[in-house]
Amino acid sequence: MWRDLKAMAEKARAKGIAPLFGAGRAADFSVQANGLLLDYSKTTIDAQARAALIALSEARGVFQRREAMFTGAPINETEGRAVLHTALRTLSGGSIMVDGKDVMPGVMETLARMKSFAGMVRSGAYRGAGGAFTDVINIGIGGSHLGPEMAVRALAPYADGPRCHFVSNVDGADIADTLARLDPARTLILVASKTFTTTETMTNAATAFRWLEDAVDTPGAQFVALSCEADKAAEWGIDASRVFGFEDWVGGRYSIWGPIGLSLMIAIGADGFTDFLRGAEAMDTHFRTAPPTENMPLMLALVGLWHSHACGHATRAVLPYDQRLGRLPAYLQQLEMESNGKSVAMDGRSLAYPSGPVVWGEPGTNGQHAFYQLIHQGTAVIPCEFLVAARGHEDDLAHHHELLVANCLAQSEALMRGRDLETARALMREAGYRGAELERQARHRVFPGARPSTTLIFDMMSPYRLGQIIALYEHRVFVEGVILGVNSFDQWGVELGKELAKALQPVLDGTAPLNGKDGSTRQLITFVQSNRG
Ligand code: F6P
Repeated sequence: MWRDLKAMAEKARAKGIAPLFGAGRAADFSVQANGLLLDYSKTTIDAQARAALIALSEARGVFQRREAMFTGAPINETEGRAVLHTALRTLSGGSIMVDGKDVMPGVMETLARMKSFAGMVRSGAYRGAGGAFTDVINIGIGGSHLGPEMAVRALAPYADGPRCHFVSNVDGADIADTLARLDPARTLILVASKTFTTTETMTNAATAFRWLEDAVDTPGAQFVALSCEADKAAEWGIDASRVFGFEDWVGGRYSIWGPIGLSLMIAIGADGFTDFLRGAEAMDTHFRTAPPTENMPLMLALVGLWHSHACGHATRAVLPYDQRLGRLPAYLQQLEMESNGKSVAMDGRSLAYPSGPVVWGEPGTNGQHAFYQLIHQGTAVIPCEFLVAARGHEDDLAHHHELLVANCLAQSEALMRGRDLETARALMREAGYRGAELERQARHRVFPGARPSTTLIFDMMSPYRLGQIIALYEHRVFVEGVILGVNSFDQWGVELGKELAKALQPVLDGTAPLNGKDGSTRQLITFVQSNRG
């Protein structure tokens, strides 16, 4: 199947993209879902390729697997767990059974507790030693950090609660720089960790505790735990009324919809958070019910696989034309690369093809003045995924938004169209060049064109839209994972580094011998030991 798709992609490459445009292509190669428009017409995909990709998804059992996920089957097979982050946003009611038990009453109860607590923090009814909380720090890493950080920033125009800060790195600089700006008597600390054992998070939480201890009489009262491990949070001294739990069927990178999203709820309020969940639920319903060609997550996944596995493009750029979506690329890096960066298939065999692609990006227009040069004229083709809203939040700066949108649309047009040598020669002739110098200068001004991109466009960023967009990407990653045959819900690849770091710590401080280390690691340890003053 991959071989057929590769042959198709090779033929499509020869045709290019612009010549595919006849009447109706834009609409035909686009998908709409509750106010979102995904335009994938500026790719080499034609009707035949699309049909083959849909057939691939059928053959790989995407639709059965989708149902298994939504209904609580243990599809995370290497960890023996269900995958039910969608339950956290199922506001429309009904039951979802896991191991014979309906999980929805527990989900709703936790959501209600979160709303009540967030309301008390926002109103000042629950306060710090010095008065109502002015600041909240979410201490977490990976899935316990990237989602809330990304969403709080994306939805800044809706924020009317205490300021939210995010500390993730075990580098003391992260927490030191954050604490230096804050008043301990009016700062609430959320310790966000599914496992409540992650070294970075627990080290930062302990540092934050000491900071509070030095300043207030009851530091523990300013701590909240967001975790699956209620017992560990209790051992840490956090009162049960401030422990917000979730089940192990919520993966870390899929956890923003529940307690890990508490900072977002405190920032934008319970109503805004509910809209965020509603947007995601609308995308869930769409994903579960829309036919293949009208199914946005499915088509986004198939476009992605076309680029990565049929065309062989090893990376993809996510380019939000929205400054406040500045952390979306980092969020998607974890979502996509931790989920599908696997080389062993579900059945234990080695993958016979590459794993999911490298994802990277930056907000436009900044990227245009940095790495777009390579996207336009470099030798590697990098499929680009643009995101843009028709309208910004700064009504008094509408001309900025017009420029932003113009730039976004111009980039996808330029990537597709390119500029041929004849046009470049004419430009150089007009600029006064002649002969060999004209030829030389013209060649530098050629753009190969036929570089693929998709554009996701919507009216305006809002909690509801963000919910839709994040759920869209989650389901895209799911579909890609099923087709690749990997388990998108485990992350064994992060374990070895963690183990070795634990073992290296005593070696670095001189309490354990250097034995057994390779030459390079020994040299680096010795350098650290003799240079740390
Ligand atoms: O990096 C591995 C990982 O387990 C991620 O999957 C997870 O999001 C992150 O660490 C944080 O884990 P925890 O929420 O348990 O602290």
